[in-house]
Amino acid sequence: MFATLIKIRLHLQRNFCFLLQPYQIMTSVNLEAIFQSKIDDEVKIEPKDWMPDAYRKTLIRQISQHAHSEIVGMLPEGNWITRAPSLRRKLILLAKVQDEAGHGLYLYSAAETLGADRDELVQQLLTGKAKYSSIFNYPTLNWADIGAIGWLVDGAAITNQVMLTRTSYGPYARAMVRICKEESFHQRQGYELMMAMSFGSPEQKAMAQDALNRWWWPALMMFGPHDSESTHSDQASKWKIKRKSNDELRQNFVDVTVPQAEYLGLTVPDPDLRWNEERGHYDFGKINWDEFWNVVKGNGPCNRQRIQARTKAYEDGAWVREAAMAHAEKKEQRKLQPEAAVKAA
Ligand SMILES: [Fe+2]
Ligand SMILES: [Fe+2]
Repeated sequence: MFATLIKIRLHLQRNFCFLLQPYQIMTSVNLEAIFQSKIDDEVKIEPKDWMPDAYRKTLIRQISQHAHSEIVGMLPEGNWITRAPSLRRKLILLAKVQDEAGHGLYLYSAAETLGADRDELVQQLLTGKAKYSSIFNYPTLNWADIGAIGWLVDGAAITNQVMLTRTSYGPYARAMVRICKEESFHQRQGYELMMAMSFGSPEQKAMAQDALNRWWWPALMMFGPHDSESTHSDQASKWKIKRKSNDELRQNFVDVTVPQAEYLGLTVPDPDLRWNEERGHYDFGKINWDEFWNVVKGNGPCNRQRIQARTKAYEDGAWVREAAMAHAEKKEQRKLQPEAAVKAA
């Protein structure tokens, strides 16, 4: 009975609180309870809804890191657009890299709905205050790396991001639906390129194997530290920002990807990898977390290069931002004083 009364009260407060607001000051306990009950009932949190500060901060951090990863992720592959071996491959790669830029833009916009300032977020990236996915600090050494990135890096990204299409914050969840559709194309074009290389000449197959050797472990690191070491996991699960743990997602990725490597006739560079009949999953070897933290801290093979490239792009784009601002101001003025604007023109 008591529980039913609380439920009715929460329902009234959730749906009719706008009527009560001028007359009733809600305690933060009430607001938190309404917020959590919405999450428990799978109701999306929208930008104008009340939310705890920590939820807002966690989302701004996560969404902006995600946005930074998309735009830094354009760099290792963008590097190969001029060197793609055919027009078809060039078109595919160009489309993929453009998609990643678009993902960055959706995500910066989603972060703005939480009150974040885009320019501040970009400054955090350029000054090294904000992180991005450590995988993009590895170099692309041969053409098969483009296949390996699509297959493994975008493949790992999809494993993580499909879960995010159901995340509790509405604008983030909706952005992820479109992003996942495009990521699926990225993964397929990567695997198709790996097939062309693996079933090609012995030299091409050797390039494919070399790419797999270098990208396999960094791809497993993309899921982040083990659950026992992950600092943000519990709260993120309670708020349904995350719905699966790092280790669960990593295991899903290994289970799906190993048979794909077998089909290509390539060897996954892990001597401890074997099917565990009892668990119904692959067992795999230890991840080198020293390497992971070293790259996260800025000492990976390409960290400096990546930030330099982003800084140059930001500086080169200054005139576009200024022109867009001047155009927006002019438009605004015309709206306010149509006659004066006509005379001035
Ligand atoms: Fe992306
Ligand atoms: Fe992608």
